[in-house]
Amino acid sequence: MVGIDQVVEKLGTVIDPDLKKDIVSMGMIKDIELDSGKLQFTLELTTPACPFNEDIENDVRKAISELDGITKFDLKVTAKVMEGRSLEDDSTMSTVKNIIGVASGKGGVGKSTVSLNIALALSRTGAKVGLLDADIYGPSIPLMLGIKEAYMQVDEEKHKLQPTKSNGIEVVSFGFFGEQDHQAAIYRGPIISGILRQFLVDTDWSDLDYLIVDLPPGTGDIPLTLAQTIPLTGILVVTTPQAVASSVAVKALGMFSKLNVPILGIIENMSLFECTKCGEPHRIFGTGGAERISKEFDIPVLGDIPLNFGIMDGSDTGKPIMLANPNSPSSLAFEVAAKNIAAQCSIVAARLADEQASEKTGDSQAVAQTQQVGQAPGGPQTSGTDR
Ligand SMILES: Nc1ncnc2c1ncn2[C@@H]1O[C@H](COP(=O)(O)OP(=O)(O)OP(=O)(O)O)[C@@H](O)[C@H]1O
Ligand SMILES: [Mg+2]
Repeated sequence: MVGIDQVVEKLGTVIDPDLKKDIVSMGMIKDIELDSGKLQFTLELTTPACPFNEDIENDVRKAISELDGITKFDLKVTAKVMEGRSLEDDSTMSTVKNIIGVASGKGGVGKSTVSLNIALALSRTGAKVGLLDADIYGPSIPLMLGIKEAYMQVDEEKHKLQPTKSNGIEVVSFGFFGEQDHQAAIYRGPIISGILRQFLVDTDWSDLDYLIVDLPPGTGDIPLTLAQTIPLTGILVVTTPQAVASSVAVKALGMFSKLNVPILGIIENMSLFECTKCGEPHRIFGTGGAERISKEFDIPVLGDIPLNFGIMDGSDTGKPIMLANPNSPSSLAFEVAAKNIAAQCSIVAARLADEQASEKTGDSQAVAQTQQVGQAPGGPQTSGTDR
């Protein structure tokens, strides 16, 4: 008769392709019960948006089918997003598991478009998502979501800003503070940093799996403040294919790397245009921008978003393509990118968990060593100071 140890051993052969670790040691198997050949457990994936979720489930089913003596098998599949940021030092935003900054070197490459559609794509998988429009000089998210008239309230009791809700995601933008469009240019350095800090830590974010932060281009006060204010899961760099955009993207990459913020990967936006008349793909902005950066910095390309009128129209009319046409090839491209981003977050989270575990083991070994050194025969030593 098959025993629970054999089941666990067999499940230990199933490897998460992103994390390169087996699902048992990653703690993905919960509530396992085996009773006279009737097996049941929950497979808890690291994110509902993992590109390999189906593969992992299939591998689990296959592994169980290879065991003799299982007469009935009930599998429940859930997902619990891992914490991709070190929360110990950061009690202020402890309800947010992952914070992803979306940066670029050059302006106009599509950061806001990508941030918004990725946020919507992640939300579509069932993840809880927030979107912070950190472009205080030129907030564009309210227009892109068709909520220009929305405003933010302050919860007097909590002294916290209440994010606006739109299509299932929590949104904060300077654009909600009425008539800021023409005033924003007067804000500089410390004021700008202060506003961003408030948006981050003085907002009543609910329990979020992912907070996407849409940054202004370049390496100015806002990206710098973001990197220095709170622990981030990582940075997503958006570029277009031409050399002029990718070579400036490298500068943004350099800044975040210097500040020890992980780089999750690159999105190449407007990578190709499929002509509606001739049906041929045209590489209007050239090729290989993201690929070049990927090789130089050894970071993955997480998505290629086509140049598409639907995407542009959607942004201008407040109906992002992920909502207006969720099954279009462009939306599919955003979905693929969102899943790859979620996978990178899980990789960062697993690395963090490993580091924390080894720190703990190191600590307990150190404590054990200290105790050994300080322990006199017959009981613990009292303080060595003279009385
Ligand atoms: N894949 C795409 N296909 C067609 N149009 C796009 C695409 N991506 C972005 N756009 C359009 O390009 C313009 C610039 O995009 P967006 O505002 O997202 O860029 P940005 O990098 O956030 O700009 P900024 O640096 O000013 O913040 C917008 O009009 C947007 O609709
Ligand atoms: Mg923008």
